[in-house]
Amino acid sequence: MLPRTQCGDFRVMHIGQTVRLNGWVQTNRDHGGVTFLDVRDRSGLVQIVVHPDTPEIHKLAHAMRQQDVIEVVGEVIARSDATVNGSIPTGEIEVKASDIVVLNSSETPPFLVEDDCDTSEQIRLEYRYLDLRRPKMQKFMELRHRVTHAARNYLDSQKFLEIETPILNKSTPEGARDYLVPSRVYPGSFYALPQSPQIFKQLLMVAGMDRYYQIARCFRDEDLRADRQPEFTQVDLELSFVDQEDVMAVAEGLLRAMFDAGVGIRLPEEFPRITYNDAMARYGLDRPDVRFGLEHVDVTELMKKVEFKVFREPADNGGLIKVMRVPNGGEQLSRKQIDDYTKFVSIYGARGLAWIKVNDLSDLPGGLQSPIVKFLPEDVLSELLHACGAANGDILFFGAGDTKIVNDALGHLRVKLGHDLNLIAENDHRFVWVVDFPMFAWNEDEKRPEALHHPFTAPREDELHKLESDPLNICSQAYDLVWNGTEIGGGSIRIHSPEVQSRVFKTLGISDEEANEKFGFLVKALKYGAPPHGGLAFGLDRVLALMAGVDSIRDVIAFPKTQKAADPMSEAPGEVSEEQLKELGLRKRRILQES
Ligand code: AMO
Ligand code: AMP
Repeated sequence: MLPRTQCGDFRVMHIGQTVRLNGWVQTNRDHGGVTFLDVRDRSGLVQIVVHPDTPEIHKLAHAMRQQDVIEVVGEVIARSDATVNGSIPTGEIEVKASDIVVLNSSETPPFLVEDDCDTSEQIRLEYRYLDLRRPKMQKFMELRHRVTHAARNYLDSQKFLEIETPILNKSTPEGARDYLVPSRVYPGSFYALPQSPQIFKQLLMVAGMDRYYQIARCFRDEDLRADRQPEFTQVDLELSFVDQEDVMAVAEGLLRAMFDAGVGIRLPEEFPRITYNDAMARYGLDRPDVRFGLEHVDVTELMKKVEFKVFREPADNGGLIKVMRVPNGGEQLSRKQIDDYTKFVSIYGARGLAWIKVNDLSDLPGGLQSPIVKFLPEDVLSELLHACGAANGDILFFGAGDTKIVNDALGHLRVKLGHDLNLIAENDHRFVWVVDFPMFAWNEDEKRPEALHHPFTAPREDELHKLESDPLNICSQAYDLVWNGTEIGGGSIRIHSPEVQSRVFKTLGISDEEANEKFGFLVKALKYGAPPHGGLAFGLDRVLALMAGVDSIRDVIAFPKTQKAADPMSEAPGEVSEEQLKELGLRKRRILQES
């Protein structure tokens, strides 16, 4: 039998050859008795001509329907000048069929299997195998393959071992809810699916593996968004005898290899760094999108001088007052838009969005248009305008109140304005490492510090002495990599001393007993010659979505879940039989629907 040539591979050099190809019928057209079929496989599309002088296959071709899967044998011929199609790589030739076999016919697909298919994501996911047949989706899967392949090659070249870690685990502490799997053998006991391979990769360092990596599936039962899935993939690594800089250097090399293979973009030799405090002060978020300005200015001190309660109260009570200057925003933004932005910040808990339009700096306060200018004395106004570098035509937005709310509100508003005002240049890719994270954040509900990264993250050596006395003011050796405002990876140097680990657990309010029950095996391992170690994990799906230029990570995952964590195709999650439940020692309870 003739070897198969892929549809997209045909070129002028094949003219005169007899070939065999396989694929799916994309279109079927009749031109004056001659039938033209566009046949596609993963590599692309080729045109088949079937003449009436081969009546048997002509009849077959004529009746052929979209997405029938066929085999064609024929001769590659040149297209006439008039029929050359410059928009496809095979557009200079066509295949004149001498034999066609229908390998399988297709029912009418529920949507057009083309890049521009106007259908809901629900239907696309229900018929994901058809959705994935669209060229765009096939390109995304190829991208995914190329990028993971490059990651493997790079890490192999750096002497990493690819090692699989268990899926059926005890709970891991990444802070999200676990997916649980009941144990049949131990009725009443549960495995947890890994939120990440964190503990096991640390154990592999204790085991002397030196450098580990895994393209690891992680499971987190959290509220889903466009950049979150209940199961997702990390490029996960861990190294022994390293410091923070070493891990970041390997991560940069890895990302460079992934980018080169994925999208042919050469990344900078070194990525800039910003401290967590700096990121929060300037951008309000710990994942700053640094492609545009609109930086925040802290005016808390200044507002201690005013009577205006909205500003004065937080200024006196440990809160925050920030201004964000939007150059020329005064001219661009209408009252309606300002009202919409006020609604927008309320999502983040802000109680308002004070603003000042700067019409004429030389005329204070008359040259300012604002609902709050009347509450601010002239010297404060002029200091304020100076502090944020205001110019005529600008608008200033204010956030005042609780530090977290103000940062959140103005941080998200900044990103929204960056997009709304088209401040982001196309094809601009900015990476930034966020470093010097606080070790702990205060959990107001539980009235205790909680780990900002995870409880195995090492505090900075020079601040270790403050672990008990001033835990909220020490930094960890954690680092996140942010790309255009999305956190694509994070990691840390870990604690390798059992003594420090136990002090950190104590600070977190985790008792010896609890620590022992939950992570006793790790703490025990630390006592048997654990080397200094650290690592990081990239969110592969996020990296790919950004490379592909798609908004949702679902597009770069072959079989993703919906926002409600369901699979419309297989209808997972599903019921199980009474028999299965019995075996597991489980009984269903009727849960009353909340009204
Ligand atoms: P972290 O929890 O920061 O770190 O996760 C690492 C990266 O994984 C991606 N990510 C997700 N992607 C899709 N859907 C999700 N639900 C989701 N959650 C996280 C993000 C994130 O940056 N064990 C540590 C890593 C380490 O310390 O080495 C960890 O899991 O891009
Ligand atoms: P009010 O005194 O509530 O009428 O508010 C006067 C102005 O301050 C309005 O423009 C509000 O949007 C704004 N404002 C109120 N609370 C805040 C806040 N917490 N942060 C920023 N602006 C606010």
